[in-house]
Amino acid sequence: MATLITIEHLKDHIGEEVSLQGWVYNKTGKGKLLFVQLRDGTGICQAVIFKGNVSETDFAAANTLTQESSLILTGLVKAEARAPGIPGGYEVDVRAVEVRQIADPYPISPKEHGIEFLQQNRHLWLRSSRQWAVMRVRAVIVRAIREWLDGQGFLNVDTPILTPAAAEGTTTLFEIDYHGEPAYLAQTGQLYNEADIFAFGKVYCFGPTFRAEKSKTRRHLQEFWMVEPEIAFCDLEQLMEIEEQFVSHIIQRCLRDCATELTVLERDLTFLQKVSPPFPRFHYDDAVKMINEAAAKGELVPGYDDPVPPIEWGDDFGSPHETYIAAQFEKPVLVHHYPTQVKAFYMEPEADRPEVCRSVDLLAPEGYGEIIGGSERMSDPEKLIAAIQKHKLPEEVYNWYIDLRRYGSVVHSGFGLGVERTVMWVCGLDHVRETIAFPRTLTNMRP
Ligand code: 4AD
Ligand code: MG
Repeated sequence: MATLITIEHLKDHIGEEVSLQGWVYNKTGKGKLLFVQLRDGTGICQAVIFKGNVSETDFAAANTLTQESSLILTGLVKAEARAPGIPGGYEVDVRAVEVRQIADPYPISPKEHGIEFLQQNRHLWLRSSRQWAVMRVRAVIVRAIREWLDGQGFLNVDTPILTPAAAEGTTTLFEIDYHGEPAYLAQTGQLYNEADIFAFGKVYCFGPTFRAEKSKTRRHLQEFWMVEPEIAFCDLEQLMEIEEQFVSHIIQRCLRDCATELTVLERDLTFLQKVSPPFPRFHYDDAVKMINEAAAKGELVPGYDDPVPPIEWGDDFGSPHETYIAAQFEKPVLVHHYPTQVKAFYMEPEADRPEVCRSVDLLAPEGYGEIIGGSERMSDPEKLIAAIQKHKLPEEVYNWYIDLRRYGSVVHSGFGLGVERTVMWVCGLDHVRETIAFPRTLTNMRP
């Protein structure tokens, strides 16, 4: 064996003999010449196996390779503009072939498969190049999230997953048995984040969150990852500035670090390239007006064949509404001041207009919808107690949360960004099930 390298580093080894380990993505050729598309997790490259260049036993072994067989190859690296692969443009002229296992007939072939079948075989589907690209973009998004927050002085303080009470409404709770007492999988880390800011100023938690969503949509998972920054001495206006800086950083990092992956996904970058501060801000009242004008004119929701449905002031947006609003802007749009009645109990109502609250959702362009939900939090203990009662939540389990308003209460705000929704947007996917390695949807939690 020669120096072991990975496919992503081929470009630094032109003219050298190297070894690569991986799996057969595809094999073609016959007679004296075989072409193996070798996949190693970092990319795909073309390996050319010419009978005259390898031992007879190695050539015989290479001939038996099937899709997904595992092997180690040794050969000479060449730049070859026409060579296919990811990134492509390099070829390995093989000198030795060491087969590790000849794979059984592989269920996923280059032909089209139905989504049911692919989901059942998610453990294998992950090896496909589209899935490879998506998971790599996801990792870059996660890295960019941490990079920005750590660089801006946010302290990562993670929050519990087993919790005694609801934080985002009682209809989507996953209940479990905590030694005879009911407990719930966390829908959000926010309430604990709020305790943490009084100790650390600016914090974020980043972990899995759970929602027993009964609706089967393209955007909802039962288990998803959310990053939640929370900031003391921060109002709604300052929160929107943080959001636009944060989201712009994430998108710019994807454009810088995922060029190959976005090419594999055939992603049109036009709109992503425009993501930089400031983002347009849009009041809920104006959004309602815009929707109802479009509905009256019989306008269609972009990307769908359906007309824009009208909306009554006070209702939450459905996804056609979100899609329509976002389509009016080239950049992500910050929709603020939603009706208090459709939002969570902890949001601060507007002082002179309590029927709306100091909330903001960030809607991504091109129909990807809500990526971020956030708000200014209620900072007065008496108002908070009233809100808890109004939402019929058990006051005794929120005493600690009310305490935060008794000892040095300040205006504070925070938001949650859904990782899977962000991956969907950056990768241009039409369903959230491809954005996480093993998705948990309403109808599927296997494998
Ligand atoms: O708007 P949400 O429900 O806000 C919260 O949970 C707040 N406590 C966050 C905060 O202020 N700290 O959720 C935030 C984001 C959504 O905008 C969306 O991106 C994502 O989390 N999200 C989901 N993603 C996938 N599947 C689901 N079922 C999701 N529910 C929310
Ligand atoms: Mg929301």
